[in-house]
Amino acid sequence: MAESFSIIHFSDPHEIAQFETCSMLLDKRIIGFLNNRILRRTGHDNHDTVIKKAVDRILQEKCDLVLFTGDATSCGQKSEFDLAYEHFRPLVESSQPFLYLPGNHDCYVNNKKCREEADKFCRKMNRGKYALKDFPFVWENEKFRLLASNSCIPMPPFFSNGYMNKKTREFYKRECEKDNDGRIMISASHFPFSDPHPCLHFLHTLWGAKEVERLLKEKKIDLALCGHIHKPRAVLDERGRGEVIAGSLTGCRMLTFIEYDGKKDLITVKRLPLC
Ligand SMILES: [Fe+2]
Ligand SMILES: [Fe+2]
Repeated sequence: MAESFSIIHFSDPHEIAQFETCSMLLDKRIIGFLNNRILRRTGHDNHDTVIKKAVDRILQEKCDLVLFTGDATSCGQKSEFDLAYEHFRPLVESSQPFLYLPGNHDCYVNNKKCREEADKFCRKMNRGKYALKDFPFVWENEKFRLLASNSCIPMPPFFSNGYMNKKTREFYKRECEKDNDGRIMISASHFPFSDPHPCLHFLHTLWGAKEVERLLKEKKIDLALCGHIHKPRAVLDERGRGEVIAGSLTGCRMLTFIEYDGKKDLITVKRLPLC
């Protein structure tokens, strides 16, 4: 019988875009900036307060993992990474097991400085243990195995897709063939495997992940924890196996609590509103 555990999951806080340098006029960052400052403005009121409430609440809990599935920033620039790090520093400095995965907005453009800042942020958030080059990797304890992947690459303007490369696909296949000692198998990634957006599917989908999606459907992966889509969603079977999208922390103002009951062999998902 597998042991019970709990995970706190959140995603997509999207630090408010900053006009950092004129070079952002030359790439996709200007679109991200306008999108964040104009279109999303009303949905992300009280941004700083919501993050503080979330961090304070997480620090009160005792769980087996705190998982942040990316999109810490809006345009992936130094100023935004700096703000995000200050917001989440109490978690990084706490004793809570904590894991950050990059989102597509954190790997927004090919600009060298932005890529370096994304890498630095990833390493700092993961307490010096994981930088971008270290994905994919296994994070495990005696209760569950978690496959952490990063399929975020800079995309053309107006596209929010990800691409799962061969190395990551092979990693998933290899790890799913191993003996888990009865432990629950979890996938953690920014992009969901399922159709993320019914109308704008082609702009949001994760390319290259069909074989890995099959592993989820065949229950070789028990649970996929994802972000990217800002509305929370959970598609689970009667044993709680399936896919959970956390939604945007600052847009929906909620944390997701994942609980596994080892006696019942049941995964349940609860949403905790923050205000
Ligand atoms: Fe997002
Ligand atoms: Fe995203």
